[in-house]
Amino acid sequence: MSTFRFNFSGADDDNKLDETKETIEWLESEEIVPDKQIKNLDSIVTRAKMFACGDVEIGHVVVSEAMASIEESGLKNVIELAEKEHSDLVAGKYEGGLKIWECTYDLIQYLEENLTGMKFENSNVLDLGCGAGILGIYAFLHNSKVTFQDYNKEVLEHLTIPNVLLNIEEEEDREKEIQRCKFYSGDWDSFNQKLPQSEVFDIILTSETIYNESNYEKLIKLFVDRLSKDGAAYVAAKTYYFGVGGGVRQFEQNITKNGHLTSTVCWKSEGGIQREILKITKLTE
Ligand SMILES: C[S@@+](CC[C@H](N)C(=O)[O-])C[C@H]1O[C@@H](n2cnc3c(N)ncnc32)[C@H](O)[C@@H]1O
Repeated sequence: MSTFRFNFSGADDDNKLDETKETIEWLESEEIVPDKQIKNLDSIVTRAKMFACGDVEIGHVVVSEAMASIEESGLKNVIELAEKEHSDLVAGKYEGGLKIWECTYDLIQYLEENLTGMKFENSNVLDLGCGAGILGIYAFLHNSKVTFQDYNKEVLEHLTIPNVLLNIEEEEDREKEIQRCKFYSGDWDSFNQKLPQSEVFDIILTSETIYNESNYEKLIKLFVDRLSKDGAAYVAAKTYYFGVGGGVRQFEQNITKNGHLTSTVCWKSEGGIQREILKITKLTE
């Protein structure tokens, strides 16, 4: 589990964020098709850990092993840079997908307590900004069809896909079962364009993805374009991301401004860093 540490702090925050905004070239979306991970899972994953939240247990690759396996890719330098700057991400290059963030636990607990397994059965689900893919795997284990999206393709290849495979009990079922899943990298705008035109989701799950206000328009467009008529998106987030400016209130304001969606706070934390879950649905025309 991780909490946010940005390299934006002190009085220069706004300037730094503006500089970052101007220079970011967001990555194009690609569909990543599992192949070598299916054939070589046992040699790729030598150690696994358990994500545990209440009665929910989901196996996942030990993050340091996933890091080691992406050693040859360019992403390694970016992660090292993030660590050197005591930050959890480098905007537009690495968006923090190698860790399991605090609000993932909140959303899993909320789903367990409030959405019965029946809601997921045969549903089309999107885990948006999936990182390790815990939310999507939860839906997958409740018989949903799941699309996993993460900004960095290396995260999908070395962490998300192995994690899904780890949760398929029988080795001989891996190839068939993973066909219920799709994986896409890249920026949200480009991902929206890449998805088949008619694809809509019954449930969109997303955790710790609203820290950067400059991405709100893309996120909200995705919800408008990709939620089914009766679908719902669940956004788990900190109430306020210190030093970056994003947060639940700002996101709500942008939703209201957009005019096609409505949101309600369906869960709030008690004590500690304030966290919330927003439920977002389409406004009836
Ligand atoms: C802080 S991580 C959260 C990961 C995971 N949801 C969790 O709670 O553990 C933020 C995630 O949002 C995604 N993300 C952030 N900005 C993005 C962008 N502009 N386009 C696509 N994905 C983005 C990244 O994939 C990243 O994994």
